[in-house]
Amino acid sequence: MPGSVIRFILNGERVELADVDPTRTVLQYLREDRRLTGTKEGCAEGDCGACTVVLVERARDGNDIELRTINACIRFLPTLDGKELITVEGLAQPDGGLHPVQRAMVENHGSQCGFCTPGFVMSLFAFYRNDESPTDQRIDDALAGNLCRCTGYAPIAAAAKRMYSAGAPATDRFAENEAETLKRLEAMADSETLCVGVQGRQLFAPASIAGLADILSENPDACIVAGGTDVGLWVTKQLRDIAPAVLIGRIEELRRIEESEEAITIGAGVTYDEASSVIAAHYPDFGELIRRIGGQQVRNMGTIGGNIANGSPIGDTSPALIAAGATLGLRRAGEQRSLALEDFFVDYGKQDLRPGEFVEYVTLPTPERGTYFRCYKISKRFDQDISAACGAFRLRLKGDVVAEIRIAFGGMAATPKRAVATEAVLAGKPWTEETIEFALDAMEQDYTPLTDWRASAWYRMAVANNLLRKFHAETSDLATPIRLAGEGRLAHA
Ligand SMILES: Cc1cc2nc3c(=O)[nH]c(=O)nc-3n(C[C@H](O)[C@H](O)[C@H](O)COP(=O)(O)OP(=O)(O)OC[C@H]3O[C@@H](n4cnc5c(N)ncnc54)[C@H](O)[C@@H]3O)c2cc1C
Ligand code: FES
Ligand code: FES
Repeated sequence: MPGSVIRFILNGERVELADVDPTRTVLQYLREDRRLTGTKEGCAEGDCGACTVVLVERARDGNDIELRTINACIRFLPTLDGKELITVEGLAQPDGGLHPVQRAMVENHGSQCGFCTPGFVMSLFAFYRNDESPTDQRIDDALAGNLCRCTGYAPIAAAAKRMYSAGAPATDRFAENEAETLKRLEAMADSETLCVGVQGRQLFAPASIAGLADILSENPDACIVAGGTDVGLWVTKQLRDIAPAVLIGRIEELRRIEESEEAITIGAGVTYDEASSVIAAHYPDFGELIRRIGGQQVRNMGTIGGNIANGSPIGDTSPALIAAGATLGLRRAGEQRSLALEDFFVDYGKQDLRPGEFVEYVTLPTPERGTYFRCYKISKRFDQDISAACGAFRLRLKGDVVAEIRIAFGGMAATPKRAVATEAVLAGKPWTEETIEFALDAMEQDYTPLTDWRASAWYRMAVANNLLRKFHAETSDLATPIRLAGEGRLAHA
């Protein structure tokens, strides 16, 4: 008999809820049901960070806890099952005094309009708990998912530095209670399928791959929800009813990250934040690309599996994965298959996914020694913006001749797509400017980009041409790209 009650901890208080609407958001619950109105609604689409709250979960090894910011506005309430949620109302000290993060914000005049302030405070709180030696870049990264429209970032960034002197994280009451929190989370853990719903609208949350396969066999049209950073917006912005839905976040088998000498395998439930360090260790540019996907809250929720499965032509990870030579593992009851990632994208909105089938994992080969790999995201803003075009390149030279090249782009066709005609022209040729200029004609065969509000077709084609030139320059000592020590940002001499 599946469980039908969700159980979680809210600011220290244990909560049990029955008859939960599958797509009620955490933000609606907090503001409307609990009157915890410190958490604000700005955009209801994961962009502004006004709704930022902190989720506490058991770590992957089960021996520790992890705190992560999430956007309450696009997070469905049933996903809280088995976790703790901390909102701005829960930060105060036991004596009612301000938390060091709040004190630092006050002392640095970090609050101006006040509307965005609780979101900033929660992002800073997670940062304070997770990172004791902040650099300017890490502070920027932690705050990029929180928008301050009155240009007040400087005092907020100053507060991010000052909060440590207002009280050390190790003496913070949340640190002191960690063992107790872990026990309370363990007590809620179970391996039953959760099934919640009202008025015939159901949401399932299986705890195993076998359970997921069974549910999808019986409900092949059910909407799979991984991080919900795409699906959440279908509900809040397009007012779509996605029930029946299946959450995959409780399935530990889908959260695996395996690393061998030959390959990295990433389960479909692994978030960007969890995958980024292992990917960056082998593909530094790909790590940098992930750092530019959404804000920290989105990277804490969104998965690479969801980015692939959604099939968007402007999804950022697919070009990088295709260029790297990734394969996709798919499964449905009793059947497993794998295919080259580029073959998964059939047409706009159409992926090679059969009824009841789901993405189980993606595997990237580790790059051979001497392989050049780069990816470039071109968007109007550096942080938290969707790409106009995104290009990725993998190259192996034999002497100065192209032994192997893989090129893939997003934003240039109806799907993320490999540039097979361009690759064919380059293969076996000397890696020279002349060869590149000659090969650029073939890009017209590979891609027919669209004009939309992000960029014109002409601009996209010019960008794709120039990125190939840039890749050539960066791999031929024609340009001197400088990586700022320990920072990962690219600058140019
Ligand atoms: C503020 C904001 C900023 C964003 N910025 C970027 C960005 O910079 N670059 C970018 O590429 N994207 C961006 N996105 C989009 C989104 O975050 C990504 O596409 C993300 O990877 C989706 O993953 P998810 O786990 O949240 O997927 P979900 O929303 O849970 O699902 C997405 C789709 O995949 C399907 N699905 C999920 N998992 C599986 C599975 N295992 N098997 C089969 N189907 C599955 C779902 O049914 C749905 O159709 C942004 C989104 C937001 C809200
Ligand atoms: S309300 Fe803007 S991110 Fe949630
Ligand atoms: S302080 Fe709220 S928008 Fe700047």
